[in-house]
Amino acid sequence: MQTYKIAVIPGDGIGVEVVPSAIKVLDKIAKKEGTFQFEWTYFPWGCEYYLEHGEMMPADGIETLKQYDQIFLGAVGMPDIVPDHVSLWGLLIKIRREMKQAINVRPAKLLKGLDSPLKNPNNFDIMVVRENSEGEYSESGGRIHAGQDEIAMQNAVFTRKATERVMRYAFELAKHSRGHVTSATKSNGLTYSMPFWDEVFAEVKQDYPEIDTAVNHIDALAAFFVMKPQAFDVIVASNLFGDILTDLGGAIMGSIGIAPAANLNIEREYPSMFEPVHGSAPDIAGKGIANPIGQIWTGKMMLDFLGHPEAGEQVMAAIEATLEAGIKTGDIGGTATMDEVVKAILARI
Ligand code: NAI
Ligand code: MG
Repeated sequence: MQTYKIAVIPGDGIGVEVVPSAIKVLDKIAKKEGTFQFEWTYFPWGCEYYLEHGEMMPADGIETLKQYDQIFLGAVGMPDIVPDHVSLWGLLIKIRREMKQAINVRPAKLLKGLDSPLKNPNNFDIMVVRENSEGEYSESGGRIHAGQDEIAMQNAVFTRKATERVMRYAFELAKHSRGHVTSATKSNGLTYSMPFWDEVFAEVKQDYPEIDTAVNHIDALAAFFVMKPQAFDVIVASNLFGDILTDLGGAIMGSIGIAPAANLNIEREYPSMFEPVHGSAPDIAGKGIANPIGQIWTGKMMLDFLGHPEAGEQVMAAIEATLEAGIKTGDIGGTATMDEVVKAILARI
């Protein structure tokens, strides 16, 4: 029996509700498969920890996490009490960067039993591969001349290593899907970073003659997500472009509450981190009405990464069967509580 040691960080708000829900589903599928099991270790890190200790996680937190196979995270943020840049950079971004989780993968797919806000969703099934370590989200820049003539500068950083790595990952993924990669660019507006991005894409694609490609400017691509999402298979994007595009991906699926994500260390040198796209949703926290599907689908991505895609498929089938039976939380037009949805999914595994 294979045992996976998973570090669990439920975080704040609805994170502490949806994480235990997803763990019930993962334990059930593991038991059903009978070849592997999970050993969950909880860490109470987040904004309440910050209020008590003055830091989002202990100084040796990263070293502690390195002892685990993977990290399963809910959401972090209590914006009324702790500024978002403190909570985000003190935990999430710290883990992503120090664990070299350089690739962020986020599917956007029309699930059976769900209404998309699009009139013609045409069964879209997209995988956005986002560069997760550099790009527009860099700590390079500064502010000078505080006051009236103030200047703020934020530098984007694109290295050949990270750019090539994310593109190769996208091409490898496309081999196992529908054989198409779209590059998100903006080389008509950004005169250094994106022409470089385009050059590297043109080089990398030479190594994958069997894969079809397209290059779209990010603004047009955002419009295509609404007009013809079925045109896309794998999309490779920089950190900022991928971030924005995947919120749109969540929206066309029907709710951000169902969108999953994985921060991958593809070299498997350190643990990867699996966390849904949504945040801590303070407006609905504590009410028992959060949609658990984003967290559960995130668990499915962890199963895939651990090498159990057949278990992952069963989880997806149970989610879709539950939606088709009309058992849905309020964000997707239903009246069920989170616990009712979880119970229905468990019953279908
Ligand atoms: P949010 O994703 O928490 O909420 C946006 C809207 O979507 C809210 O109306 C919320 O009720 C709804 N929503 C989100 N998840 C849902 C679910 N599972 N079921 C039903 N409805 C759901 O984003 P917001 O409000 O911008 O941020 C709140 C806090 O979360 C902030 O502190 C922010 O920094 C943090 N955040 C953390 C993230 C993370 O930990 N990965 C990601 C995004 C935001
Ligand atoms: Mg985002």
